[in-house]
Amino acid sequence: MRTVELNIKVTANEAMVWQDEHLYLLDQRLLPHQSVFIQCDDAAETAEAITAMVVRGAPAIGVTAAYGCALAVRQRIADAGNWQEKVAADFAHLRAARPTAVNLMWAIDQCSAMLPSISSDNAYSTLLNFALELHAKDRADNKTMGEFGASLLEGCSSVITHCNTGGLATGGHGTALGVIRSAFAQGKINEVYADETRPWLQGARLTAWELVQENIPVKLMTDGACAARMAAGGITWAIVGSDRIAANGDVANKIGTYNLAVAAKYHGVKFMVAAPTSTIDLQTVSGADIEIETRDPSELLGCGGKLVAPEKAGAWNPVFDVTPASLVDAIVTEKGIILNPDRDKIAAHMAN
Ligand code: MRU
Repeated sequence: MRTVELNIKVTANEAMVWQDEHLYLLDQRLLPHQSVFIQCDDAAETAEAITAMVVRGAPAIGVTAAYGCALAVRQRIADAGNWQEKVAADFAHLRAARPTAVNLMWAIDQCSAMLPSISSDNAYSTLLNFALELHAKDRADNKTMGEFGASLLEGCSSVITHCNTGGLATGGHGTALGVIRSAFAQGKINEVYADETRPWLQGARLTAWELVQENIPVKLMTDGACAARMAAGGITWAIVGSDRIAANGDVANKIGTYNLAVAAKYHGVKFMVAAPTSTIDLQTVSGADIEIETRDPSELLGCGGKLVAPEKAGAWNPVFDVTPASLVDAIVTEKGIILNPDRDKIAAHMAN
């Protein structure tokens, strides 16, 4: 992967930058201490960056994939031969970059659907415009979602969040972190407790970085501390994002989300999932049908590149889990709020 330094002020809204006909991805593996971008000029480079976690977070993966589709079309039209066939193979390569975040497939399916009606003269501009629009729409939708989510909070309290769902994980503003931003701006949140989110530490490295930049008080805690923190009092909501919401309202999100939801139910803390409608997958009947990504054991056995477990230890490393809909008090999208989600309410919300 080619690293470059861009002459821009790096904020959480610069996870993906389209500049001078290149795609630049802020290398989130190095944050918060280094701001380096990876340059992508074709589908293979874009897919590699998604798999390697340079860019992560379901909506950001979807937007990145849309840029990757435009890059594939540009490259294959410049090649000799049947560009449509090569582009179809590139799209399949991008689609396989990560299995759980449905925004990836959702974006690529829309690009694929455009192919039959475009010619080599307008294919690149059509797909690039689609990617740019998707990027801008995601940011705008997150602001709307943030307001909907914030409207559910009453008074002023502390909240818990998991993983990173902010500008870095989306086109900007964020989903769950967008709700937290909007609610903080309205004086409804005094402090955010962020799970560190083993093993990639998205909470410690990314969520804390985003919140510190905006002077939103944040305290990190280990993933295992959530029940103890709830028992200590003062927490009204746990607010998380999602990689895929099944048609019945079951929610796949970063490993540890399910623990948080179980602990929330026990302690009478409300549980909110903020995600765009592009994360709701009506084709997936229930959470049991969601493919859960399992990553290399080495991610768990070590920390910061240093082995911490004994050499012969194995590791079980699913990076997402499924929270049953019965543990979710509200799903918030850019279209509004679904309280106590179930199959009928989700279908009605999507049909609106
Ligand atoms: O493995 P990651 O970092 O891609 O996982 C990200 C999450 O689990 C997020 O909570 C989810 O994608 C929603 S991001 C707005």
